[in-house]
Amino acid sequence: QKNVGILAMEIYFPPTCIQQEVLEAHDGASKGKYTIGLGQDCMGFCTEVEDVISMSLTTVTSLLEKYKIDPKQIGRLEVGSETVIDKSKSIKTFLMQIFEKCGNTDIEGVDSTNACYGGTAALFNCVNWVESSSWDGRYGLVVCTDSAVYAEGPARPTGGAATIAMLIGTDAPITFESKFRGSHMSHAYDFYKPNLASEYPVVDGKLSQTCYLMALDSCYKRYCKKYEKLEGKQFSMDDADYFVFHSPYNKLVQKSFARLMFNDFLRNASSVDESAKEKLAPFSTLTGDESYASRDLEKATQQVAKSQYDVKVQPTTLIPKQVGNMYTASLYAAFASLIHNKHSTLAGKRVMMFSYGSGLSATMFSLRLREGQHPFSLSNIANVMNVAEKLKSRNEFPPEKFVEIMKLMEHRYGAKDFVTSKDCSLLSPGTYYLTEVDSMYRRFYAKK
Ligand code: ACO
Repeated sequence: QKNVGILAMEIYFPPTCIQQEVLEAHDGASKGKYTIGLGQDCMGFCTEVEDVISMSLTTVTSLLEKYKIDPKQIGRLEVGSETVIDKSKSIKTFLMQIFEKCGNTDIEGVDSTNACYGGTAALFNCVNWVESSSWDGRYGLVVCTDSAVYAEGPARPTGGAATIAMLIGTDAPITFESKFRGSHMSHAYDFYKPNLASEYPVVDGKLSQTCYLMALDSCYKRYCKKYEKLEGKQFSMDDADYFVFHSPYNKLVQKSFARLMFNDFLRNASSVDESAKEKLAPFSTLTGDESYASRDLEKATQQVAKSQYDVKVQPTTLIPKQVGNMYTASLYAAFASLIHNKHSTLAGKRVMMFSYGSGLSATMFSLRLREGQHPFSLSNIANVMNVAEKLKSRNEFPPEKFVEIMKLMEHRYGAKDFVTSKDCSLLSPGTYYLTEVDSMYRRFYAKK
């Protein structure tokens, strides 16, 4: 199959958010901790009428409508999520409501779960299907959907919520360089959800940062090795135009890009110039563990990487900074930011993608972009996603209201026999919302 990849995208995030500056003051954190320290501007969250299922219904319906895709044309539907609403029934089966109506129940795929990595697993499943002998010529559809909420404390400002849907097929404007994937998977307790009675994760924040950076190093090395074996020449950061990272908060993205620069320095790659080499030389003898702990190295690499960061990473940071960690949707929301900002100049570019899910699973892979044919063109994808308008039309909540909603959601998690306020006044037309969970835990949704 030729040019297998992403044909179309749609993004949805709740119209409800809180400014990080406001949350910071409310939490009694030092001024600048969330905005400069974590690098975040704003955080989106679901109110009691929205959840990962309603957001997915909204996003999939919108994608099918806006790109004029007949639901019968979908042959595989894969969902990535780490927001557990049911331990057995997949989110995918809720989405079948959309397709059953049109007489299409012949759709493979279920949910994939491993922290923020589930979306990438779902995406690879769809891409592999289209490339395989079991492909029947129809489209694949990937849905990444999560609501990231944390208990009160230092992790709370790194929440977020969103859904991304991606249509997979041939002759795509966003194609996969499938031969160059580099993965790193291992057993770690950095972030996990062992308490099934709570939506909140158990998180070792510091360990999760180190696990993330170690996985990044390992994936990058493997990616380079595969590239070099197949292409017969060294890979360096100069060979890629943009770097998109899973974005729990922007500061980690800044550190990650700088860390890749350090990798290139250690590999003696052509991307590192003489003055950068001089600045990084004092760190060349650090052991791996020392290098993750060194604040001086972190500062030096970030300084050396700054100008390249502005060109190759900054255009990918808009939605993650404005909405927060969207777990499985985070990496793809960062990629959506790039399309939003640069769609008219992306043809021919190579984009590096780094997916990380705690626990842990990580993959680095790359995409090649082409302008594509309407409606599956980069400019139309930017047009459909309409990111600027969606960001602008959000409602900012005061912190007291935000905390009140978090408390209510704690009670609602895993509960039965309740009706919601059904207040959809803040939702735009076409948005699905939760109306009721009955005595059998069955969930009911309506469309505004
Ligand atoms: N002005 C400017 N910067 C400040 C200020 C201030 N007033 N106060 C603190 N900072 C800086 C700190 O120096 C630090 O930056 P640095 O790392 O460059 O030194 C940053 O703000 C954060 O401060 P910390 O004290 O390190 O923050 P804390 O430990 O309280 O919490 C953490 C941060 C660990 C990221 C927490 O939010 C968390 O656990 N989040 C969830 C876990 C997570 O997202 N992990 C990432 C990978 S796993 C995943 O995706 C879920």
